[in-house]
Amino acid sequence: MNTTRPIAILGGTGPEGFGLALRWAQAGETVIIGSRDARRAQDAAEKIKQRVGPSAKVSGSENVAACSAADLLVLTIPFEGHAALLKQLKPAIRPGSIVIDATVPLAASVGGRATRTLGVWQGSAAQQTAELAPKGVSVVGAFQNLGAELLNADGPVDCDVIVCSDDPNAGQVVRSLATKIPGVRAIDGGKLENARILEQITALLIGLNIRHKGHSGIRITGLPQAAYDVM
Ligand SMILES: NC(=O)c1ccc[n+]([C@@H]2O[C@H](COP(=O)([O-])OP(=O)(O)OC[C@H]3O[C@@H](n4cnc5c(N)ncnc54)[C@H](OP(=O)(O)O)[C@@H]3O)[C@@H](O)[C@H]2O)c1
Repeated sequence: MNTTRPIAILGGTGPEGFGLALRWAQAGETVIIGSRDARRAQDAAEKIKQRVGPSAKVSGSENVAACSAADLLVLTIPFEGHAALLKQLKPAIRPGSIVIDATVPLAASVGGRATRTLGVWQGSAAQQTAELAPKGVSVVGAFQNLGAELLNADGPVDCDVIVCSDDPNAGQVVRSLATKIPGVRAIDGGKLENARILEQITALLIGLNIRHKGHSGIRITGLPQAAYDVM
């Protein structure tokens, strides 16, 4: 069953957001790609239509307009623009929205290595989002470990998605969305504070990709089947 809510992907012109948009458009979801430049967003939406077919429900808008048109929001922007974009979006974020944060605070954001993360005062990029988002909005950390190369390739991805949130209902919505990506098993990772660990795993995966020349992902084994089932 498709989510009836449109999904706005802020920073969706980059490889990570584009890959998520592609996968959800392939699954029949309604996707709005957000960008600082409406034209760039429309071009990205057009590329998705070319891959998925003319029936794909995908469009492109400037970030604030994309945000105003949806209540499922995904942040896929580099950490250096994270706080500033959230402040810009804040008046446009509707009460009851779910903000999914895939941002990783890589040290590369400040000229350091992509294999290291920065210390974020709140504990993680996702927790920074929780601090900056308006009241009545649920923040979910997810997709930090699902690489763009996997998303933009054809066929199922070989990666689990761990979903962290202080709002169990929002976590459930996002796990359901994650499993629309073929190959993904979505696992409840507990409270939003655990996003700190997910963000750090990404730095390790980048290091593994460089060392072994691959596109790594994660799989969590050994849990009861119920942990992998999404209602
Ligand atoms: N790439 C991956 O495999 C991967 C995997 C997991 C998680 N992530 C995380 O997901 C996020 C996006 O990754 P990405 O590789 O797609 O990043 P990216 O290409 O560097 O950036 C994504 C988009 O963000 C917008 N952007 C760039 N700088 C900005 C700024 N200062 N303020 C506002 N918007 C800005 C750009 O869109 P416009 O110019 O069109 O506005 C850009 O296309 C990052 O936090 C990354 O750590 C990435």
